[in-house]
Amino acid sequence: MDVLQRLIQDHRITEQRFAEIEKTSKKEAERRELLFAKLREGLEVYEVFEEEYLYPEIDEVFSAKAVVAEALDEHVEFDAILQEISEILANKHEWLEKVCELKDMVRGHARKEEEKMFLDRLDRVGHDLWFHVIARTPLISVKARKSTPPY
Ligand SMILES: [Fe+2]
Repeated sequence: MDVLQRLIQDHRITEQRFAEIEKTSKKEAERRELLFAKLREGLEVYEVFEEEYLYPEIDEVFSAKAVVAEALDEHVEFDAILQEISEILANKHEWLEKVCELKDMVRGHARKEEEKMFLDRLDRVGHDLWFHVIARTPLISVKARKSTPPY
């Protein structure tokens, strides 16, 4: 599995986490908190990995400043809404509303990454340049990514 496949897999895992949260009721506040903690950790790890390793490579190899800047802005928005959610009681209606708002943002972001940043670029530049990015971007486990610099 390469970096690209790994990130796309991360997107699918994140979607599943949102779906799990959406199935909960107000009475399951504790479970909601647990699922949210997992979702938050996953998203934060994913952001750090992209910001520190993948986006700089994409920018350098493809001169993709605008695409990368937009993606970075969206990561900042995720952080803000993650913080907002963490400050709302999980048995409140607003809690799930905010989670759904975040889900839509993350889904749009992931779609743009997959279609514009990853796959469209792969189609346009071919495998050689993408391979160059992938070869220079470390692939390590999600947990290790968070605690240890992957090189
Ligand atoms: Fe991203």
